[in-house]
Amino acid sequence: PAPLRIGLAGLGTVGIGVVKIVQRHADLIAARAGRPVVITAVSARDPQKNRDADLSNYPWETDPVALARRDDIDVFVEVMGGHEGPARLATEAAIAAGKDVVTANKALLAHYGHELAVAAEAQGKVIRFEAAVAGGIPVIKTLTEGLAGNQMRRVMGVMNGTCNYILTRMQASGLPYEAVFEEARQLGYLEADPNLDVGGIDAGHKLSLLAAIAFGTRVSFDKVELEGIGNVSIEDINLADDMGYHIKLLGVAQMTGRGLEQRMTPCLVPAESPLGQLQGGTNMVVLEGDSVGQIVMRGAGAGEGPTASAVMADVIDIARGTRLSTFGRPATSLTEPVAAKSATP
Ligand code: NAP
Ligand code: HSE
Repeated sequence: PAPLRIGLAGLGTVGIGVVKIVQRHADLIAARAGRPVVITAVSARDPQKNRDADLSNYPWETDPVALARRDDIDVFVEVMGGHEGPARLATEAAIAAGKDVVTANKALLAHYGHELAVAAEAQGKVIRFEAAVAGGIPVIKTLTEGLAGNQMRRVMGVMNGTCNYILTRMQASGLPYEAVFEEARQLGYLEADPNLDVGGIDAGHKLSLLAAIAFGTRVSFDKVELEGIGNVSIEDINLADDMGYHIKLLGVAQMTGRGLEQRMTPCLVPAESPLGQLQGGTNMVVLEGDSVGQIVMRGAGAGEGPTASAVMADVIDIARGTRLSTFGRPATSLTEPVAAKSATP
C-alpha cells in the first residue's frame, strides 16, 4: 500500500520526538497503520542547527507554507508553535491544499480551532490535535471514542506541568513563589513567554479544547475564567496544608443550567486525593460521563517522547483512514456556547 507522507514543520522538542518515533518504529507503525508512514520533507528556522536526530534524508523547506503545499505530502504536521504567524499561515495553506493536519499547538487551536476544523471538513480533511491537551495522555481519543456513548457531565484536571511543578515544589521546600519560579526557569520548564504557564493561559487553552469536545460547543477560550498562580504565596500553601488541602491550578468545565462554565484557577483540593497527590510536572485529567462515571487519567503532560507519542497516534489514525472529526462530531454542528456568568460557589 502507498505510504502516508508527512511534511514536518518544526524540529524542536516535539518535532525531533516525531522523527525518532517514525525512524525507530517504522515496522511497528506500518503494521498498525496498514501502510508505511514516512517523512517526506521538513522545515524549521535554522538549517545549520545541530539536532538530536538524523535528518540527512529529508529535503529541507525554509518556508513552512511551501512545505504545507508540497504535492508529495499527505499530512502536514505542525509543531512550530505560536497562534499567529507561520503556524497559522502554514496550517491554513495545508488545509487549502487538501492536506490532513496534525498539530500540538493548543494556542492556535484555542483561537482558531473551529475555523480550521470547518475549513478542513469542507475539503474532506481532518485536523487532529491529541498532543495539544495533556501531552502524552490520550484524553481526546478517550472522549471522542471511548466515551462516545456518554453525556459528559464534567471535565477537569491539572493541565500545566510547570505550574504543578512550582506549586508542589513550594509545598515541599517551603520556598517562596519567586524562588521556585526562578528554579523552574533554570530547569527550562517555562515557556518562552512564562505568562503562558503561570498566567494560566496555556492550561486555559487546553481546557477550552476539552470543553468543546465534551459538550459539543465551539472552542471558547475567551469565555474561560482565568487566574494564574502568580498570587499564590507560601503562606497560602502552608495555611491550606494545615487544613488538609493542597493548592492546584485546576481546570473545571461543566454544563450547568446557567450555561457552560469554564474555570482555570488555583483551587484547594484535599491533600490525600489523587489530584492533591499529583507531583511535579505531571498532568491529571478527570472525565465524568453519565454512564461511565468518573475516569482519572494521569501522565506526562509535556516532553519529547510523550508529546510525540500523541502526535503519532493522530498520524497513525489518519494513515488508517480515520475520518473522525477532531471534535468527535462535525465541526459545523458545534453550537455557540452560552457562558455561565459566574462560577458555581
Ligand atoms: P520548540 O522546541 O521551540 O520547537 C519549535 C520548532 O519550530 C523549532 O524547530 C523552530 O525552528 C521551528 N520554528 C519556529 N518558528 C518557525 C518559523 N517561523 N518557521 C519555521 N520553523 C519555525 O517547540 P516545542 O516544544 O517542540 O513545541 C512545538 C509545539 O508543540 C508548540 O505548539 C507547543 O505548544 C506544543 N507542545 C509542546 C509540548 C512540549 O512538551 N514541548 C507539549 C505539548 C504541546 P528552529 O529549531 O530552527 O529554531
Ligand atoms: N508549558 C506546558 C506545561 C507544556 O508546562 O504543561 C506542555 O503543554
